[in-house]
Amino acid sequence: MSGFPDPRIHSTVFRRRANGFNAEMTEPLLDYIVSLPKAELHLHLEGSLEPEMMLALAERNKVEIPYSRPDDVRAAHDYGSLQDFLDLYYAGMGVLCRGEDFEELTLAYLRRAAADGVVHAEVFFDPQAHTARDIGFDEVTEGILAGLSAGERETGATTRLIMCFLRDLSQASAIETFNEAAAYFDDGRIIGVGLDSAEIGNPPEKFARVFAMAGERGLKRVAHAGEEGPASAVRDTLDLLNVDRIDHGIAAVNDRDLMARLARVGTPLTVCPLSNVALKAVDSLRDHPLKRLLDAGVKVTINSDDPAYFGGYIAGNFFHTARALTLDKARLALIARNSLEASFMDGGAKAEFIRQIDAIQSAN
Ligand code: ADE
Ligand code: ZN
Repeated sequence: MSGFPDPRIHSTVFRRRANGFNAEMTEPLLDYIVSLPKAELHLHLEGSLEPEMMLALAERNKVEIPYSRPDDVRAAHDYGSLQDFLDLYYAGMGVLCRGEDFEELTLAYLRRAAADGVVHAEVFFDPQAHTARDIGFDEVTEGILAGLSAGERETGATTRLIMCFLRDLSQASAIETFNEAAAYFDDGRIIGVGLDSAEIGNPPEKFARVFAMAGERGLKRVAHAGEEGPASAVRDTLDLLNVDRIDHGIAAVNDRDLMARLARVGTPLTVCPLSNVALKAVDSLRDHPLKRLLDAGVKVTINSDDPAYFGGYIAGNFFHTARALTLDKARLALIARNSLEASFMDGGAKAEFIRQIDAIQSAN
């Protein structure tokens, strides 16, 4: 493990810089947010590839990329749509070639998340995006698992791994990937499946069979829906894929009945506000439907999606959203509590962190 600055030196000042804060600023609201024990439930590991690491890996692995400085990479972070971002995201991950690259990526993310008060992380990866480049499934997965173990040891956070299918590829390809993961499902190293990539034109019914296979195997199921797509995509995902959580799901705000159903059943939404602004799913944070969903009783959580591409990790997402929507401390604590309840972490640890949130709240 070498070549990158040790993010344990991510002092408060570093953390604030990385989330777009003035280094000198003392910000009680940010301190409060960081103090809340949180679970991050919507995080694509490949989307945590910071420009500095991208350049270092490009050099180490002799992969040509059209950037020579971190700022060149950041200058490209200007998206008109989800697809614009995905083009950059898939190109960027081309520097990830060997297991140790995935291990370093994963460890760096966990260190960074822990600095924001993440006590549990359920992270996604996109194996098909790597096997398509002739990187072996085991090479990728073992590397990530090594990074998760190292990160757990170092930060004390717990983790789970979820394998996503790329929805712009076929269900046959998803099933092939599902079968490749069998040994990891059997011993719990991969706890579930997800569905990501281009939403429009790739509806949930395309993946009904592979999600049913996951259900028969007792795996957790999550899926992106209602990010760029309409409320009906969220409803169809609930009906056809039997998911435990919806990733994004913000379009549900346009359908009262659906919101009521989400609230009644308790299906969590893993919302990613800075991502939604960056990808133009909403015009601005002030227009974000998170508060309306939360106040309608939907189990809303806040997450960072692809933090290296969207300008903020989890505390930055909480902070900027709180500012834009005037979320008070009680709502922020509720969102943190929702993240723990919506997580697949062990019951005892979950109860203990919820007790900690209660204690923080009564002290405030
Ligand atoms: N893959 C990585 N980030 C994604 C997002 N925001 N939506 C769909 N697929 C993704
Ligand atoms: Zn996502």
